[in-house]
Amino acid sequence: MMQETRLHPRDFIYPIFVIEGEKIQNPVESMPGVFQYSIDCLENILEQVRQAGIGGVMLFGIPQHKDAEGSQAYAQDGITQQAVRFIKEHYPELYIVVDVCLCEYTSHGHCGMVCGEEILNDETLPYLVKMAVSLVEAGADMVAPSDMMDGRVAAIREGLDRAGFTQTPIMAYSAKFASAYYGPFRDAAHSAPGFGDRKSYQMDCANGKEALREIRADIEEGADIVMVKPALAYLDVLKEAALTTDMPLAVYNVSGEYAMVKAAAANGWIDERRIVLENLTAMKRAGAKIIITYHALDAVKWLA
Ligand code: PBG
Ligand code: ZN
Repeated sequence: MMQETRLHPRDFIYPIFVIEGEKIQNPVESMPGVFQYSIDCLENILEQVRQAGIGGVMLFGIPQHKDAEGSQAYAQDGITQQAVRFIKEHYPELYIVVDVCLCEYTSHGHCGMVCGEEILNDETLPYLVKMAVSLVEAGADMVAPSDMMDGRVAAIREGLDRAGFTQTPIMAYSAKFASAYYGPFRDAAHSAPGFGDRKSYQMDCANGKEALREIRADIEEGADIVMVKPALAYLDVLKEAALTTDMPLAVYNVSGEYAMVKAAAANGWIDERRIVLENLTAMKRAGAKIIITYHALDAVKWLA
């Protein structure tokens, strides 16, 4: 009765990787229990998510064809658009969040347009808008821009409104740090940058105050939910955001955090169930309303 923080299946969003092709269910080596699914192999995992009563799914598409402009990101029959349509048709009760970013779709693996070795901010915005609009047209319930270009939330809000999607919320990856914790994800999503790093657009892990400025800027641009990412090494930022804004907060319990827990558990060095529930509880205690986590299905089983 006196417990201050309680986890609930509806707190969670479960990330799913969807790959082009047929009859594919590739295990992601550095993320035991996580797979890349072709659309025809999605039913089993979607059924599990539905039965678990999880808040929603977050989709990451892996296209076959990549080019400099990431054209499959906003193609009408792009892999993510197809996946959204499939889920809407067969699992209408699932809430669909789509990650909006170009890095899975660009041949250079960066989150935006590139000129030489420079990543272009403003030139990237129209592409992100096109991607967001085309995914919402396909049926996505919420868009989550993760590119970290300045001004993208305002641009996407305007683009969605103009297309008639005034009611579609934006969950902004607002305080997204340039982090080594994304390593396993980049294997899973085939999105490692071909040259350089993401430090010209993602944040320096040394800067907590700047993170709060980014969060404030995204709220002013029209974000409905703001996110801190990664989770565990940035709970101070999350807590501070919780104390200084009244917007709903999300946190992304990222691939590297998942991989570390799984590796230690596989060695018998930690009690996986207790560690996972402790970590997730800490994220909620620090102020997260929504937790995006690869542990979601396990956590729901353990909470039951
Ligand atoms: C795309 C994106 C990334 C993640 C979510 N969206 C990778 C990156 O920025 O390099 C990371 C998620 C994870 O590590 O689980 N920009
Ligand atoms: Zn990206």
